[in-house]
Amino acid sequence: MLRRRDFLMGSSAAAAAAAGLLHAQSSSAARIDVLVNEPIARIAPEIYGHFVEHLGGVVYDGIWVGENSKIPNIGGLRKSLVEAFQKVKPGVIRWPGGCFADSYNWRDGIGPRNFRPRRANFWAGSGDWPASAPKDGPGRYDPNHFGTLEFLRFCKLAGGQPYLAANLRSLTARDFYEWVDYCNAPAGATTLAELRAAHGEKQPFNVRYWGVGNESWGCGGNFNPEEYVVEYRRFAEWVPGFGQQLSFVGSGPNSGDQGWTRRFFGKLAEKGGFGKMWGWALHHYSWNVSGGRTNDWVEGKGSAINYPPVEWYELLSDADKMEGLITANWAIMGEFDRQHRVKLVVDEWGSWFKPGSEVANTHLLGQQSTIRDAVLAGMTLDTFHRHADKVAMAAIAQLVNCLQALFFAHEDKFALSPTYHVFDMYAAHQGNQSLRTMVSADDLRFDRNGRPASLRGLSASASLDGKKMVLTVTNPDPKSAREVEIQLRGATGAGEVRGMVLESGGDINAHNTFADPSRIAPKSVTAANVKGGMLTHKFPAASVTKFDISLS
Ligand code: AHR
Repeated sequence: MLRRRDFLMGSSAAAAAAAGLLHAQSSSAARIDVLVNEPIARIAPEIYGHFVEHLGGVVYDGIWVGENSKIPNIGGLRKSLVEAFQKVKPGVIRWPGGCFADSYNWRDGIGPRNFRPRRANFWAGSGDWPASAPKDGPGRYDPNHFGTLEFLRFCKLAGGQPYLAANLRSLTARDFYEWVDYCNAPAGATTLAELRAAHGEKQPFNVRYWGVGNESWGCGGNFNPEEYVVEYRRFAEWVPGFGQQLSFVGSGPNSGDQGWTRRFFGKLAEKGGFGKMWGWALHHYSWNVSGGRTNDWVEGKGSAINYPPVEWYELLSDADKMEGLITANWAIMGEFDRQHRVKLVVDEWGSWFKPGSEVANTHLLGQQSTIRDAVLAGMTLDTFHRHADKVAMAAIAQLVNCLQALFFAHEDKFALSPTYHVFDMYAAHQGNQSLRTMVSADDLRFDRNGRPASLRGLSASASLDGKKMVLTVTNPDPKSAREVEIQLRGATGAGEVRGMVLESGGDINAHNTFADPSRIAPKSVTAANVKGGMLTHKFPAASVTKFDISLS
C-alpha cells in the first residue's frame, strides 16, 4: 500500500483507474438564505493564493522562458501568463515548494545567471515522470535561473504578496534568517542588502509570509510532531524584522491526520506558546476515486479527463472533506491556543490524477483539468468563505502545468484552464465581509461500489462590500439543473443583478486545450426572477455561477 508520504519519499508504482456504476438522483427544490446582517469575517485576499514549485513544467516552460526567448516575456517571465494572472488578483504566491523547498539553497539562485550552479532537483527521481520524458532538463537539474529576485519580481508584476517556504530539513536557522535579511533589509543596512543591490534590487521587498518547512511529516524531514516543534522553535525564535511584521506558517497535517495537529500544538503549548506562529498549514488533495476500495496513493487515483460519471461524485466527495478538516483542526488548535491567535492556512489544495494527460512530457505531475475541477474549485472557495474567521490564507496547487493548474503553457502555446475562470469570477469576493449563508438542498445520491453514498447537493457563499453583494453558487449535480429560491434576509430588495456562469452544456469531461482554448469559458447570465429580496434561478448541471447584486 503506497501512501502519499511514501510517494513523496520517492516511490513509484503503476496507477489504475477506478470505475463504478452510477445511480444518481437529485431533487429540484432548493433554497439559499443569505443573512445580510450576519457577517462572519473579512475574506482575506490571501485565501486566493497560488503555488509555484520547481517541479516539472511549473517554473521552466511555465513561468520562466528567459530574457532571450522568442516567446513574449517581461524580463524572462512569460508575458501572457503574467497578464492573465494579474486579472485574477492573486493574494499570495508561494515558492519554491513544496517538497522542493527543503532541498533548496536560496544562495544558489542569486547573482549573475551564468554563474549559478546546476543542482539535482528534488523531483529528478520521481517515478511519475512520463515515460517519454527526457533524462535531462530543468525539472531534473535545476539551472537556478529563476531564483529569489526573479520570483519577487514575478510577484510584483502579478500583484500578489510573496510567501516563501524556508528549507528546514537541509539548511540551518541562520540560512533562514539571512534569506529574510537578503529580501527585507533596508537599502544599504546590511551586507546582504548591499548584495541584493548589486544584483539589481536596492529597495527591500518586505516579505511578510514565511513557511517554516513544508510537510515536515514527510519530504520535509520525516519528523514526528514533537521533533518538528524543536526545529520550528529554533527557526522562529529569532529572525530580524527590519520593521516588517513577519508571519510564520508551521507545517500542518496531511489531510485528516489530526494527531499531527494535536501533538504539535500540545508540545508547543508546553513552552513558549504561540507568539511565534501566525498560521498552521493544512494540505488536502482530492485524489481517491476508488469508492472506498483502496487508500493506495497510486491505485486510488483516476483519470483527469476520461472518467466515468461515478468518479465525478467520488472526486468531489474527497474535495468536500475540506469543511470537516477545517472545523476539526480549528477545534484542536483552540484546545491549546484558546484565543485562536494562530489561523489556518490551506496552502496546498486541489485535484491530483494519475499521469497521462500532461500537455508536454517535461511536465511532471501535469494534468488536464475539466469542468469537474472548476466545480471542485467553486465548492472549495465557498467553503473557505464560510470559514473566513478561521482560514486566513490558502494556495491552490499549482499555478501552471501541474496538478489543478490555472494555466497550461508549453513553448509558445498558452491556455487557461476552467479553474482559472472560477478564480476570475470569485475574485470579486476578496476583501468583502463573508455573510452567513445557509443552503437547503437534497444531497446527490450515488452508488459507491454497492453501498449508498451522497454528496452535498449545492454549494454557496456570499459576501458584502457596502451595498454590493457577491453570491457564488456551485451545482455539483452532473446531470440535473437545480431550481433555487434565494432569500436575501435583512435586505429590503435587490437592484441590479449581474451574473456569470461557467458550464459545459452537459459534457462532464469537457476541458480546454491549446487547439480549443475556449471550450469552457464564462458567459453572462440573467437571474430568472428578482422580486424584492428574493431571487429565483435555475442553476445548470455541473456549473459555477456568480451574481453581483446591488442591494437597495
Ligand atoms: O504539490 C506537489 C507536492 O505535493 C508538494 O511538493 C508537496 O508539498 C505535496 O505533497
